[in-house]
Amino acid sequence: MSAAAVVTTGGLTKRYGNVIAVADLDLEVRQGEIYAFLGRNGAGKTTTIRMLLGLIRPDAGEVRIFGHQVRLDQPSWLRRVGSLVETATAYPNLTVRENLELQRRLTGAPAVAVARVIEQLGLSAAADRRAGQLSLGNKQRLALARALVAAPELLVLDEPANGLDPAGIVEIRELLRSLADDLGTTVFISSHILVEVAHLADRIGIVHNGRLVEELDRAALVAAARAFSAEQLTEQQRADALLTLELERYFLARTDGSVQ
Ligand SMILES: Nc1ncnc2c1ncn2[C@@H]1O[C@H](COP(=O)(O)OP(=O)(O)OP(=O)(O)O)[C@@H](O)[C@H]1O
Ligand SMILES: [Mg+2]
Repeated sequence: MSAAAVVTTGGLTKRYGNVIAVADLDLEVRQGEIYAFLGRNGAGKTTTIRMLLGLIRPDAGEVRIFGHQVRLDQPSWLRRVGSLVETATAYPNLTVRENLELQRRLTGAPAVAVARVIEQLGLSAAADRRAGQLSLGNKQRLALARALVAAPELLVLDEPANGLDPAGIVEIRELLRSLADDLGTTVFISSHILVEVAHLADRIGIVHNGRLVEELDRAALVAAARAFSAEQLTEQQRADALLTLELERYFLARTDGSVQ
């Protein structure tokens, strides 16, 4: 193993009544890696992320972040983690800038951090608007900006692409890539849409019914996609995929410009 493990789980398990939301999950995410946690609705992604962040207690197993056991009575590790979990919340009557300023003070980040994240998330035009009046996509950008204010070493993002348009998804993908490449930020990101993470992740863990079904690195992902499409795709599906791709490029070209 080359890089240090930033997130480790061992035998992580959570039940809700008869439902096993997360079952005996062993994960290891290394420093500077972008790890995508991919699964269908109800697979156990949010439950896992809540346990990673210490928001809920596992029934069994443990989580280590930066090598330390996650304990809420000793939350020093939290300062090094930026997170976004499911429905993002901000103070609706405060502006984007005020929300970010509040987050900056809470985390002890330097004064320049607010301007930096406004720029990083393309929120300049919306900076003085109230958070409650933002479009869904800009709410999500604000949530991401809050996660980034303290320049965390680890980002834990639950479906960060929710509400973003295709151009926004590409922007966020590039932002996360540059954080990982330039600053060595470790990223744990969940998604239920493969294409969102296929071009971003260094590794993808597929979760189903709370279990880790498979882990694929980039090479394995490309090989699996090639082998699968060669065997399984009909001519019609190939044509449909191509059309979708071309239409998306056309749409992006016709709507090129900054987000308001
Ligand atoms: N607080 C809760 N009480 C009861 N059951 C829950 C609770 N939270 C999650 N579950 C159940 O645990 C399972 C996993 O849910 P979870 O929210 O982790 O899935 P998910 O992968 O995040 O799905 P989605 O893609 O829809 O966000 C589901 O069957 C869900 O109904
Ligand atoms: Mg979820």
